[in-house]
Amino acid sequence: MGKQLYYKDKPVFGFDIGHTSLKIMQLDRKKKGVSVDGYGTISFDPSAIEKGVITDPEIIIKAAYTLLEEQLIGKITTSRVAVSLPNAFSFNRILTLPKLSNADLAKAVELETSQSIPLPLDDLYYDYEVMASLNEETVEVRLVACPKTIIDSYMTVFDALGLEVALIESNINAVTRMVTHTETHDIVTLIVDFGSTACDLSIFDGTTIRVTSTVDCSGETITQLIAKKLNVTVQQAQSIKTRYGIDMSKKQALILDAVEPELNKLTSEIRKVVRYFSERNKSNKAIGQIIILGGGANLPGLNSYITDKTRIPTRLCAPWKNLSFGKLQPPHELETTLYTTAGGLGLVTVGDLST
Ligand SMILES: Nc1ncnc2c1ncn2[C@@H]1O[C@H](COP(=O)(O)OP(=O)(O)OP(=O)(O)O)[C@@H](O)[C@H]1O
Ligand SMILES: [Mg+2]
Repeated sequence: MGKQLYYKDKPVFGFDIGHTSLKIMQLDRKKKGVSVDGYGTISFDPSAIEKGVITDPEIIIKAAYTLLEEQLIGKITTSRVAVSLPNAFSFNRILTLPKLSNADLAKAVELETSQSIPLPLDDLYYDYEVMASLNEETVEVRLVACPKTIIDSYMTVFDALGLEVALIESNINAVTRMVTHTETHDIVTLIVDFGSTACDLSIFDGTTIRVTSTVDCSGETITQLIAKKLNVTVQQAQSIKTRYGIDMSKKQALILDAVEPELNKLTSEIRKVVRYFSERNKSNKAIGQIIILGGGANLPGLNSYITDKTRIPTRLCAPWKNLSFGKLQPPHELETTLYTTAGGLGLVTVGDLST
């Protein structure tokens, strides 16, 4: 997946298939920086996807069609897409291997893949990339693998939509591209993608993604917990969540009480990966910041909550800092982090900004 399929010289747009919604974004490199040509989002019936596999393609195809034809802000001018894979169902590994010829390296990676990934090799697509030489004898290799069932189901959808898939990469890769586009690189960063059904965590050390994990802390559950505690409908709970969140409000204590067990899952997982990283990393650099993104990151008060619980400064990814919307209506302020994956995918078209 990835480099072989990817042609830098032709435009692509980012297509993010979440558990509950599609998000798309096309970016373009202009003299003054990067600008948004078009973007949009649409929800769909979550029963369309099971364990990462699109089991009911019609639902996704219809939603995508409506989004592209009717709900787009601005324009999409290409039929080539960059697509991300769900973290919870793909595998990211950093392998340390001896320096080998290409053919022997391929064999070594195949062996590692079959040993370290709990699925038969025949059921997986995988790809790898040599990242860095550790010393004269060893190299680090980044491996990504994903069940064929997931990728094949995506291909069915894009075929039906008449879209050409130019790049498939892990969701983590896409958000990391957006984070590095927006933020400084020299701090070790824990990235949290807070989605509707789970949170994906990854540690970016300035060059490479080091640790990844997924925890079932879910935006949907938070809504349900608020609904139950305040005795309101799910719809009302959703609007209370987005408006007040766990920030100061009349109901703050009640809301916090309701959602804390769910947020606890996230903060414990953060502590766990921080510990794991500090035990293993050779450079002795500590994690300097947490950046939260994904729709759930917009929960008012979440960043100070995480800062408080982990003692690591936490803030929202500000994906629009280096992107211009020109004459287009920008996303609502409460939606800023929703497009991080789609935007990160869209950025592949822009290439290396330092060149
Ligand atoms: N302002 C807000 N405050 C709190 N939560 C919000 C806000 N806006 C959106 N959300 C929540 O974000 C979640 C959707 O996030 P996102 O679109 O990143 O998930 P997804 O991509 O569909 O799912 P996943 O990333 O798990 O595959 C929903 O649970 C939604 O309620
Ligand atoms: Mg998502």
